[in-house]
Amino acid sequence: MYEQIQHPLLPQATHDERARQHFVHALKEHLATTVSPGNRVVYEKRAKPRFVRETQRAPQNHHEVRRVMKDEPYYQIWSALQRISQEMMWDAVASSVERQLPDLVARAKQNKGELGSLTLNPDLPIPPYHTAVDIHCQPGGYHSETCPDDVAAGAIYDRAVHIYVMGRMGPLNDDLGQSLIAYLKTAYPDLQPRTILDLGCAVGHSTLPYVDAYPDAEVYAIDVAAPMLRYAHARAQALGKRVHFSQQNAERTTFADASFDLIVSHILLHETSASALRNIMRECYRLLVPGGMMFHVEVPQYGGLDPYDAFMLDWDTYNNNEPFWGALHEMDLVALASEAGFAPTRVVQTMIPSALKVARSRTGLFQGGDFAGRGQWFVFGAAK
Ligand SMILES: C[S@@+](CC[C@H](N)C(=O)[O-])C[C@H]1O[C@@H](n2cnc3c(N)ncnc32)[C@H](O)[C@@H]1O
Repeated sequence: MYEQIQHPLLPQATHDERARQHFVHALKEHLATTVSPGNRVVYEKRAKPRFVRETQRAPQNHHEVRRVMKDEPYYQIWSALQRISQEMMWDAVASSVERQLPDLVARAKQNKGELGSLTLNPDLPIPPYHTAVDIHCQPGGYHSETCPDDVAAGAIYDRAVHIYVMGRMGPLNDDLGQSLIAYLKTAYPDLQPRTILDLGCAVGHSTLPYVDAYPDAEVYAIDVAAPMLRYAHARAQALGKRVHFSQQNAERTTFADASFDLIVSHILLHETSASALRNIMRECYRLLVPGGMMFHVEVPQYGGLDPYDAFMLDWDTYNNNEPFWGALHEMDLVALASEAGFAPTRVVQTMIPSALKVARSRTGLFQGGDFAGRGQWFVFGAAK
């Protein structure tokens, strides 16, 4: 597994903080590799036969699997532990960040160099789908601020994501971006974007690989949350990457029509609402040059998955404050893109391998709280 690179912005943990964080990491690893597989046994040996006895047929979708699995004590215990591990993770990282917040704010300010830019808009409304619920249990969400020039949410996210994914997204948590780039370089070798936009960039984990992959391009990245962007900009500076970050809502940006050759997002779509999704698609269409392409990386759609796998992937919808997760993964994405103007024949939906060998050589499970299950990502894209 990968250790996280201690770049100049990453919060530094004391011995005890590190021990606590390592414990949560190990707990998540244990749940994913040792406890979670038992759910399949419980399903095959108890829950499914119970469903068959009651209905004279096998469960046909994840809703039907859920109906029988939610009463199984083994599943209930795994699910409770999974949820507790999530809450412990945020606690273990947030307390460490709080202790050193003034220092982190100062470090972020020092790192405001010449590379790229940061444009904040304190008047930008935070969408209700982020204020109504703390997504994936992150206390205060991405946007909350408690002091001037706050970077806490960004610092917490950077460190916590590494634990969340059990180190499986690499030393810089950038597997989503690296994997999409690897796919683009193979599937679209002629694509040479001069302008790239990353939507919902958070702290820029997935954004930075585009700087190296397309050195002639100007890379732009937007997010609604100021603390993420302040941290993202300082982190990009510290890592020597030139990115233009701005605080904008992907549903309606201030960029001119046809500003971008390539628009990407990485695990953004499942955190927005149904109406936001439609707006984001329309905005992608508006912002792309004719012939330009958009690509969005996610966990797989449920259609075509084994109902049990889809049920396990759907854990976040009910247990991890991800209210839109399930709705996105059941959505007709061709219809979504074509409603925004993209020709249905130019829509792409495909699974791509993780760029990281360690993720590809995994247990072969899809499961709740486990991104890149089976070492694969889902890509949804379209050309204008
Ligand atoms: C899961 S994080 C994205 C992670 C990031 N793309 C990466 O690969 O590391 C989702 C981010 O999207 C942002 N976001 C949510 N809705 C948005 C919107 N409508 N416009 C812009 N950013 C949004 C959130 O503030 C959050 O930082």
